[in-house]
Amino acid sequence: MHISVINGPNLNLLGQREPSVYGVETLESIEAKLKKKSITEGVSIEFFQSNSEGALVDQIQKFMKHTNAFLINAGAYTHTSIALRDALLSSSKPYVELHLSNTFAREEFRHKSLLADNAVGLVSGFGSNSYLLAFDGILSYLRNENSK
Ligand code: DQA
Repeated sequence: MHISVINGPNLNLLGQREPSVYGVETLESIEAKLKKKSITEGVSIEFFQSNSEGALVDQIQKFMKHTNAFLINAGAYTHTSIALRDALLSSSKPYVELHLSNTFAREEFRHKSLLADNAVGLVSGFGSNSYLLAFDGILSYLRNENSK
């Protein structure tokens, strides 16, 4: 089983970026926790972050060749990117959309997601824990699918 984790714009700044909204944990620390969890679960995992929409599309196209599923925090592109939506749909892989903040409790433009309707599920508002919850969610989904 293989899971690919995609992070979009400004998530490389976690830890210093608006800590009252996104917390103080860095992306490196979150990725280390996911890596540890994946080892415990016997799953392989890989990570990619970019501030650029095209680079994110390119990487989804690369990862889709071998991955079983995506976890994606597309940052602001969640609310705007038809290209990311199409890339995920083209992959035909299940994915979980995730956010550190509760996007529905924030500005109205964050209430819309171009990714959510095709996702297996959505995790939003648990800070850095959203990543670990999304990992648990996709893993139980994949295991359930495999046992059918
Ligand atoms: C975010 C929420 C988005 O609205 C925002 O643009 C981000 C981070 C989150 O994780 O809470 O960059 O995806």
